[in-house]
Amino acid sequence: MSEKRFITDREQLEKLAPMLKAPIKRQVFVCNGKSCSAVGSADVKAEFVRILEEKGLRQGKESKGRNPMGEILLTDCGSIGFCSVGVAVMVHPDGTLYGQVVAEDVPEIIEEHLENGRVVKRLALMELPEPAA
Ligand code: FES
Repeated sequence: MSEKRFITDREQLEKLAPMLKAPIKRQVFVCNGKSCSAVGSADVKAEFVRILEEKGLRQGKESKGRNPMGEILLTDCGSIGFCSVGVAVMVHPDGTLYGQVVAEDVPEIIEEHLENGRVVKRLALMELPEPAA
């Protein structure tokens, strides 16, 4: 077994993981656990993909239709415990956990929350406290 090396050179790290150079502001997690999948998480994710890529907000490889300098990371995740009130969507670092999200809610989440920093209260089931200073 080869020994894993720990890379400390920032330039090398950025070459290996180009997202390190992007001005990421938020990461959006869409649950694709069993219960959320049963109530449309694939549609919710597809709507995030469509709009974020149209607006050039989704960070990622240009060859995949994304923006290397995009501000939003879009990520799948497993269950977060909202299984009976999915689809669950989390926005970090804001600590906002949305529930009962359907594809039709996605434009509002993107415009209000991701672009203008205003939490969509009607869908926000939890807002995690900021860490103590
Ligand atoms: S399956 Fe999505 S929160 Fe549990």
